[in-house]
Amino acid sequence: MSLINRNPVFLKNNIFNGILKNINVINVIKENNNTTRNFHSNSIVSKHYKELEFKIYRWNPEKPKEKPAYKSYKVNREDIKQTVLDGLLYIKENEDPTLSFRHHCHNGKCGCCAVNINGKNVLACNTPIDDKQEVQKISPLPNIPVVKDLVLDLTHYYEQYKNIQPWIMRKKKDEHGEIIKEPDREILQTSKERKKIDGYYECNLCACCSSSCPNYWRDADAYLGPSTILNSFRWIRDSRDGFHSERKDALQGPDSLFRCHGEMNCMSNCPLGLNPAKAIAKLKLTITKEG
Ligand code: SF4
Ligand code: SF4
Ligand code: FES
Repeated sequence: MSLINRNPVFLKNNIFNGILKNINVINVIKENNNTTRNFHSNSIVSKHYKELEFKIYRWNPEKPKEKPAYKSYKVNREDIKQTVLDGLLYIKENEDPTLSFRHHCHNGKCGCCAVNINGKNVLACNTPIDDKQEVQKISPLPNIPVVKDLVLDLTHYYEQYKNIQPWIMRKKKDEHGEIIKEPDREILQTSKERKKIDGYYECNLCACCSSSCPNYWRDADAYLGPSTILNSFRWIRDSRDGFHSERKDALQGPDSLFRCHGEMNCMSNCPLGLNPAKAIAKLKLTITKEG
């Protein structure tokens, strides 16, 4: 079983989605005196607001004279399914085909639908529409360059990820004494060793955490950011990797690990419930002890 699915937040959302997709009418849940949700295959009826306003950040690089601005779309709540991504798709299909956003897996796995909704970084595909809010304000993730509307330019973010060499490297010498990094066979690990990477390997690179980190805002060119450090830690924990100490050394520069001051924004903005701040704290502890 994929460990992403063991994440309680993720599991809750996916059970929720699965129920809605597969069963025509399951239940009527009375949440409180104000709200009744009818769980149909494609709709949720809320007594709160029959019409929702989506205020969506718009910017088109082909119209450089037009400043970025929020555009409002009024949508009948019954016309959209359950998630924020459903709302965006409805608007694109029925109101404004020029609206740009990314989506792929619709299942919380690819990370490409990350946006900021009413001030919080989330995945649009596994975030149910908040029926208690009449206005759904949707912006691109903060502090990352925008290509168009809600689409981010993640070139630098992916470059940082690539620089940590996120793959297994071995230290096996060939007949000439040269180190071969590429594994030449499947490398087994015990279930205890495998468990050590739980909570660190599930990252889908959505960038919600790095986009919420004050240190990443200050200097994303220098600071690796929480998700890249979490992913590096994942390889440092992996019993199959042979470059643990080199990976740790690479994280010790002035712009790296010790630039994190533990504000914890990264933890509270991870849609999968991962905790990059914990990975960073553990790394700092290990390095301090070893040093
Ligand atoms: S804990 Fe560190 S990495 Fe996380 S948001 Fe704060 S400064 Fe950034
Ligand atoms: S740690 Fe969480 S928020 Fe950060 S990139 Fe990975 S999945 Fe996204
Ligand atoms: S579309 Fe893949 S995570 Fe949302």
